[in-house]
This record gives sequence, C-alpha cells and structure tokens, in this order.
Amino acid sequence: MQFKQIILTGDRPTGPLHLGHYVGSLANRIALQGKYSQYIMLADVQALTDNYDRPEVVRHNIFEVALDYLAVGIDPKLSTIFIQSQIPEIAELTVFFLNLVTIGRLQRNPTVKTEIKQKKFGESIPAGFFVYPVSQAADIMIMKSTIVPVGADQLPMIEQTNEIVRSFNRIYNCTVFPEAQALVPKAGSARLSGTDGQHKMSKTLGNAIFLSDDIDSLRKKVMSMYTDPLHLKVTDPGNLEGNTVFEYLDLFGTNPAEINELKAHYQRGGLGDVKVKQYLFEQLNQFLEPIRTRRLALAQDPAHVWQILKTGTDQAREIAANTMQEVRAAMHLDYY
Ligand code: TRP
Repeated sequence: MQFKQIILTGDRPTGPLHLGHYVGSLANRIALQGKYSQYIMLADVQALTDNYDRPEVVRHNIFEVALDYLAVGIDPKLSTIFIQSQIPEIAELTVFFLNLVTIGRLQRNPTVKTEIKQKKFGESIPAGFFVYPVSQAADIMIMKSTIVPVGADQLPMIEQTNEIVRSFNRIYNCTVFPEAQALVPKAGSARLSGTDGQHKMSKTLGNAIFLSDDIDSLRKKVMSMYTDPLHLKVTDPGNLEGNTVFEYLDLFGTNPAEINELKAHYQRGGLGDVKVKQYLFEQLNQFLEPIRTRRLALAQDPAHVWQILKTGTDQAREIAANTMQEVRAAMHLDYY
C-alpha cells in the first residue's frame, strides 16, 4: 500500500533494546505501522561515528536490534527495516549537504554539544561524529520523509534538517525535498526511569530491563528496583511519587483497578515493597514473555532475519536512487 506521508525513524545499533526504547519509540512505531509508509533504519553508519574502533560491536547489534524489532511486533509487511550503510546514496547526499552547513552552525547544535561533553572527546572530536547531524538530514531526506517520530532530544536534528532542505531548494532552485516534521510523543510518556530510579533507562547506566532478558534476570532486576527510600517497614505509609515500581505499573500493568487498590494500600501503609514488586514482575513477565518467545524462535533462523533486512534495504535503496537522480539533476550533475 502507498501512503503520502513517509515516516523515517532509526536507532544506532549499539546494544539490545530495553523497555525505555519500548516506551520512547517502539510502541509508537507499532501504532503507526499500516497507517503510514514507515521506514525504520538501523543507523550503523551513525553508530560508527563514535564506535569506529569497534565495528564488530555494531555488526553484532544490527542483528540483535533486528531481532528486537521483529519480536516486539514490527511487521516487515507494514514497516520497511533497512541498514544505513547499505544505502551508499545516503553517504553521497551527505557530502552535498555538507556544503550547505557551517562549522559554526554544527557547533551550536545542542544535541551534539551535549554528546561531545558526555563522550569526553575533549579536543579530539572525530570529524565524522561532529557532522553526523548532516548525515542524519540525509537519512531523512533520501526517503523524502515528512514525519520523523523522535524524542525531544532529537528536535535540533529536525531543525537542522529543515534548514538544509530550505537551503537546497533555494540554491538549486527546485522543490526536491519536503520539510520534515518531528512527531514527539506526549510529555511524560516518552521517558522511562531506570530500575535504579535514575531519570533515564540506559544500557550504559546499567539500569535497563532488556526485551531479551530471561525470566530470572527480569525477576532479579524487578526485585532490586528503586522504590520509596523512606518506606522501611511494611506498616509505614509509602510514597508513590518517584517510585519506579508504580511508574512501571502505570505503563505495563493490565488491570488499572487492581493497581489503584495497590496504590491506596501502599499509601495507607501495610503493603510491603516485596509484594508490589512480585506483582510488577508478573505483569512485566506477561508483557515480555511473548516477545522473548518470538525472539528465541527468530534467533534460530538467522538467514530469515537477514533476508528481511535485505528485502527492506533493497526497497529503501530504490527510493534512494530515485531521490539522487533528482538531486543530480537539480545540481547540474546529470552529465550524460
Ligand atoms: N540519532 C538517532 C539516535 O541517536 C538515530 C537516527 C539516525 C535517526 N538517523 C535517524 C532517527 C533519522 C531519526 C531519523 O537515536
């Protein structure tokens, strides 16, 4: 089926996906598929900008993330999954886009600024990393995407993409590229706390529950979750605010009436953390078990998974080739 609006999203394949990814983007992608032409990109080139010395990690995680996508319910019949590095047209477009961006403008990109600090590059910022917003603009525009579902941290990327689009269309006097619109999930629903109560679940922080966790790891992680640090005795009244166990129950619990009762009991006092955690464990396991089962089955048949990625990449590449033909014509590079 063809839809007018094209969606592009993607992830850097640097680790398996966790519940934070589910809440922040996967759930949204599952909801959008079938309603739009949705392309989901495994951003291995972008991952390499700060993992160039560890290509095997990126390669390994391409497969792991693909398993996560398929297991969680991304349907290759409704969404096209493709691998960034296998579309050389993206690299070509990046080079042309680089002429339309200044170093000063890149230095002001808040997302890159923050990341440069986090990654402690100091004075040795790899040029490839520094310009990745331009490569991201090429990811989006090679597919002529008009909708880009992203977290709020990615808004500067969309802004920069649209600046490039306006420059390109103006300078080459054409209408090759549409402007893209960010689709940011509702505030609050997009970010999941880590099991330690820190404001963001992340692999690096070691506070993540992965979609691929087995039942024992899941139990262990839930049982050691952050709750109300002042709720020491079962009889003490407990606090729900900032209480990670209840945050997760709100998102993954299937029985709101039961959860409301637990909340009231917890606040009154008399309900211990262990009981609530046991309940959360059961609820989370109910959610994760079918994902785990599908993931294990898919992992048994790697050739099938690679074939899905190849088919998706071939489809994406066809669009990319068409876009580049228009780009070359607009830039007077269509010599013969
Ligand atoms: N920068 C995104 C991230 O770190 C990944 C990404 C690469 C992306 N290219 C994209 C997201 C294009 C949306 C559109 O998660």
